[in-house]
Amino acid sequence: MAAITLIVNGAKMTTEAAPGETLLSVLRNRLGLTGTKYGCGEGQCGACTVLFNGRPIRSCRAPAASAEEVKIVTIEGLASKGVLSPIQKAFLEEEAFQCGYCTSGMILAAHALLASNAKPTDAEIIQHMNGNICRCGTYPRVVAAIHRAAQGATDDLKAVLDEMNKSAAAFKSVQANFVFDQYTAVIRETDTQSGEMFLRRMQGGIDAALRIDKPDPKQVVFLHKDCKLRFYQPRINQVTERDACGDRSDIDTYMSLGFGASGDDLLKSFDVKMAGWETINGVKTAKLELVAKDPKVKNVFSKFVLWIDPARDISLKQQFFEPSGDYRLATYTNVKLNSKLPDDAFQLRTNSGTKVVSQ
Ligand code: FES
Ligand code: FES
Repeated sequence: MAAITLIVNGAKMTTEAAPGETLLSVLRNRLGLTGTKYGCGEGQCGACTVLFNGRPIRSCRAPAASAEEVKIVTIEGLASKGVLSPIQKAFLEEEAFQCGYCTSGMILAAHALLASNAKPTDAEIIQHMNGNICRCGTYPRVVAAIHRAAQGATDDLKAVLDEMNKSAAAFKSVQANFVFDQYTAVIRETDTQSGEMFLRRMQGGIDAALRIDKPDPKQVVFLHKDCKLRFYQPRINQVTERDACGDRSDIDTYMSLGFGASGDDLLKSFDVKMAGWETINGVKTAKLELVAKDPKVKNVFSKFVLWIDPARDISLKQQFFEPSGDYRLATYTNVKLNSKLPDDAFQLRTNSGTKVVSQ
């Protein structure tokens, strides 16, 4: 027996596993996650399907040891705070099951399909779901459920973007506390910074400022009027400034991503997908997945995820993914929309001895 740590449905879980024990066995028998079913035990039926870093796999064939530090999602992890995911709801609405034995595997396989293809055709659904066997013969209803979930996501996305278009017109400024968790995949470590952010829309562009308090005080300020990005490190009492005029529209887009951008703005720069609804601190947010249309940006950030409150057009969470697997997760609290910002919000707290370095 050896200790094993798995990340299941977003939580780190440590248990024991016998040499060669399968992931299915650990999930069901050691972690009590019995929603994942044992069917054939030979990788043929799909009843044991779970998501392995987003990819559907047969957990009856995967050694548990191969899943260490991998993000595993089981059927128990799809609902968020008691709210079923769109594909779960669609299965219920289409009554896409009879005995239900294959259903958790079917739903996870369908979830993975919709994550990579928002509007699959019949042929694409059949090809993707081909390895998931239903002895009750519910296949036509499974196909209908997947179409229903896809259509629901399309309708929801349109409604969210329309609402953002309306809210964006009233957006003037935002102030919030933030926590940034920067995850580095290669060393599997997360660094955390916290502080305050300020953003205001001015004629001709945006002004943005970050005041980082912990662990090391720092300030980052971008002012649209001279389009300079300034980075102040009090520890060495130095400001590094960079002319950002060439990247001005990128800076406007990415610094204000999820704050005051209209739905139409998002569609100009990104392929946008609705990934469901999540409640954060009592606020219902639309989870949007964005992939930049500009290949240059895509080389730096493979995907952005925003948890948007469309009624205020602000994000309560953002996640920026890099192709390496690194990501930054930003969480915002105490969000004040269109309030008067402090007079010094965009001023660097320098002194007469501060050195300025231009890049
Ligand atoms: S139980 Fe794993 S594929 Fe059948
Ligand atoms: S619903 Fe019975 S096996 Fe699919």
